[in-house]
Amino acid sequence: MVERKPRLEGKVAIVAGAGSQGQIMGNGKATAILMAREGASVLLVDAVEDRAAETLDAIAAEGGTASVFAGDVTNAADCQAMVEQAVASYGRLDILHNNVGIGGAGTVLEVTEEVWDRVMAVNVKSMMLTSKCAIPHMVAGGGGAITNVSSISAVRPRGLTAYSVSKGGVIALTQAMAIDHAKDLVRVNCIMPGPVYTSMVAVNMTEERRDARRRASPLQVEGTAWDIGWAGVYLASDEARWVTGVILPVDGGVTIASPSR
Ligand SMILES: NC(=O)c1ccc[n+]([C@@H]2O[C@H](COP(=O)([O-])OP(=O)(O)OC[C@H]3O[C@@H](n4cnc5c(N)ncnc54)[C@H](O)[C@@H]3O)[C@@H](O)[C@H]2O)c1
Repeated sequence: MVERKPRLEGKVAIVAGAGSQGQIMGNGKATAILMAREGASVLLVDAVEDRAAETLDAIAAEGGTASVFAGDVTNAADCQAMVEQAVASYGRLDILHNNVGIGGAGTVLEVTEEVWDRVMAVNVKSMMLTSKCAIPHMVAGGGGAITNVSSISAVRPRGLTAYSVSKGGVIALTQAMAIDHAKDLVRVNCIMPGPVYTSMVAVNMTEERRDARRRASPLQVEGTAWDIGWAGVYLASDEARWVTGVILPVDGGVTIASPSR
């Protein structure tokens, strides 16, 4: 039997959007729990402090190391304070997992300017701001790993135009940052989740709709937040040391499926 050490042993991680907006396991929450299980010290960042505190309870119950930072990642001062707290608490910064994202429904005929600007700020600008504050500390430590959470909605848009455009922006941001910071050994990758069942999408969802989402994937298996979390662990780990600029669909094969006849 091969024994292995925890995959993130000794690493310090920030998970932005580490809470869940409901009782169903969220992508950011699962990622934070798995990172702690794999030996990372995790700063749990969320605009709603109670949500991050619930994630902290789950990690503490398993004997993991984590703490909470309440802040809004669309705010530059909060991003700076967040990074400073991670470094002050744990001595370094190796991993930034940018999970924060909100929906944005409607066509360009329907969306308001206010909603459009908000979706771009929360889904794209926030990742630029958190990265701007995190990268200097990663460089000082010899490198790091940033993972941005996009969505298959970026490449398979349907009725969520502001959301799709913002998630396309996340892909472009990932690739630009991967090139810009490779010389400093900062790897930047992107996860494109498919239709996973989390609190974010469960609101008002019927069992029929939930089953249709499950059947949309060639695997015909419902995706969960844990599937997204494991991708986050891999991309943050040294096992992915030669992986940068990658856009990883975690979607049961949805993006390669043809429409059924
Ligand atoms: N569930 C899906 O089917 C699906 C599919 C594709 C992509 N995604 C992506 O997954 C990510 C979210 O997944 P989740 O399950 O963790 O969602 P979630 O909404 O349950 O959790 C996100 C957390 O982010 C926090 N947050 C929101 N705005 C913030 C801000 N400005 N500053 C700090 N914190 C903020 C919220 O309070 C919440 O606790 C999003 O980026 C979303 O676009 C989800």
